[in-house]
Amino acid sequence: MHRAWWKETVVYQVYWRSFYDTNADGYGDLNGIVEKLDYIQSLGATMIWVNPFYASPDKDNGYDISDYYAIMDKAGSMADFDRLLEEVQRRGMKLMMDVVLNHTSDAHPWFRESRSSRDNPKRDWYIWRDPVNGGPPTNWRSYFNPSAWQFDPQTGQYYLHSFAIEQPDLNWRNPEVRQELYRVLRFWLDKGIDGLRLDAIALLAKPDVFADVEQPEDIRYLTNHPGLHEYLQEMHREVFRHYDILTVGEAAFVTPQTGLLYVDERRRELNTLFHFEVLDEMPEWDLPRFKRIQRKWAEALKGRGTNSQFLNNHDHTRQVTRYGNDGAYRVQSAKLLALMLHTLPGIPYIYQGEEIGMTGVRYDSIAAYQDIAMRNKYAEEVGKGRDPNEVLRSLQPLSRDSSRSPMQWNAQEHAGFTTGDPWIRVNPNYREINVEAALRDEESVFAFYQALIRLRKQHPVMIYGDYTDISGDDQHVYVYTRELRDSESGEVRWLIALNHSEQQRDFALPDELLQAGMKLLLSNYTDTAQELPQHVQKLQLRPYEACLYVVEGRLRTQ
Ligand code: NOJ
Repeated sequence: MHRAWWKETVVYQVYWRSFYDTNADGYGDLNGIVEKLDYIQSLGATMIWVNPFYASPDKDNGYDISDYYAIMDKAGSMADFDRLLEEVQRRGMKLMMDVVLNHTSDAHPWFRESRSSRDNPKRDWYIWRDPVNGGPPTNWRSYFNPSAWQFDPQTGQYYLHSFAIEQPDLNWRNPEVRQELYRVLRFWLDKGIDGLRLDAIALLAKPDVFADVEQPEDIRYLTNHPGLHEYLQEMHREVFRHYDILTVGEAAFVTPQTGLLYVDERRRELNTLFHFEVLDEMPEWDLPRFKRIQRKWAEALKGRGTNSQFLNNHDHTRQVTRYGNDGAYRVQSAKLLALMLHTLPGIPYIYQGEEIGMTGVRYDSIAAYQDIAMRNKYAEEVGKGRDPNEVLRSLQPLSRDSSRSPMQWNAQEHAGFTTGDPWIRVNPNYREINVEAALRDEESVFAFYQALIRLRKQHPVMIYGDYTDISGDDQHVYVYTRELRDSESGEVRWLIALNHSEQQRDFALPDELLQAGMKLLLSNYTDTAQELPQHVQKLQLRPYEACLYVVEGRLRTQ
């Protein structure tokens, strides 16, 4: 596959409202990102993705946009944005914006016009349907509500909202809508941004005819309808191809086969995608399943397209809590997950705080939760007569707010995030887990991420190497190789060995590796042997031990 800067990048995700507050209003802001750019740069990340900060009533934390050309007051001003872009790029990093094209806020002037009358010129910019038997047009659920349809008494029709009621879906069939959104993209790209994260991109196309489904709970019917790829190809033709950018689509409910349609380089749609076969479908750590997912994606995309690697973000609780061990092995398991994500094929994304091993927070009352998805779900379940405490307990682990608590900068009040009242409560463990402590400690999770990213900058095998899992269905141990043969790097083979358990585990090396010596490049234990001599039969891995070796000598490709 040809090489490109965006395949080599390491993305750091800034959830700005929880990152750093410079004006004591309790919300992080764009100036707060600027203040912490040296920190992000010292980590080694080369691109920063910032969640939406457009003007918005902020019902869904900025994913409900009321003006694509303005900045939300809480975040700052357009001058602050321009300074952010300049300061990011002055440090040799790149900036990725998050753009929401599937829906707007119901406060957007387009929607206000659209809903004002059936014959308004913007009526067709959204998706309006007549009632059926006096009720909603179909039995579809939205992500956040029992119905995806909202009745508007003024004109006697329902509109479609795949997310909150306040987030009406745009009608992508209408060419004026598409042109208007391309204009939005060009506005920001012409300012010089380097990338776009495209929200809910799998939802753009809608079915020809809306019809009831048998299982309304399984909302995959909201996604991947015919027509979608024509839109993406048009977007590429009209916009993307004129800029040197990274585009990443948030693509729910895709498989490797349907995912390839988005990222196959020959198709000219997107550079890469976030698929959710792990975060949406694997509630707890399940290594055999994870291996199957990785294998399938690596095979499908090999030589054709680029994957993305991530185990948490602002919608999914923190990886060390969900997929690692946030108790006795917090540091080791955070490093293990990091080593894994940065050595699997695809672009790695670091969600703010992950680099210091922040854990998922649980609040003890529904009042402390801010997320619209959490609040709506709680109300729906309690409305069915369920015990409120039990509902709270059942929703806590995967609540989106559990990764949205403020960044933990130091051991001072509110973790040094704000001198005001934080919009959401800090995780009480900030006295122990914080950036200041991490920077003092040479063995910190942070230092490990730095080492990983340094390696990535030096060794193309981490980016372009072929991936082979050699650990089969082993429940606890994950061992794989990355191999690259080319004129620049010669022949390079790496072996990654991860023990994802609290017990010591042995891994019998396959025959073809017995002749090879191995040199340690990185480990999450300080006393891992620096070399594994030839003829070592097995690897002995301690709890959550994670090792990266350079393989010397011959390795037969499987
Ligand atoms: C995905 C975003 O990541 C999430 O935070 C948001 O609520 C939905 N899309 C709707 O825009």
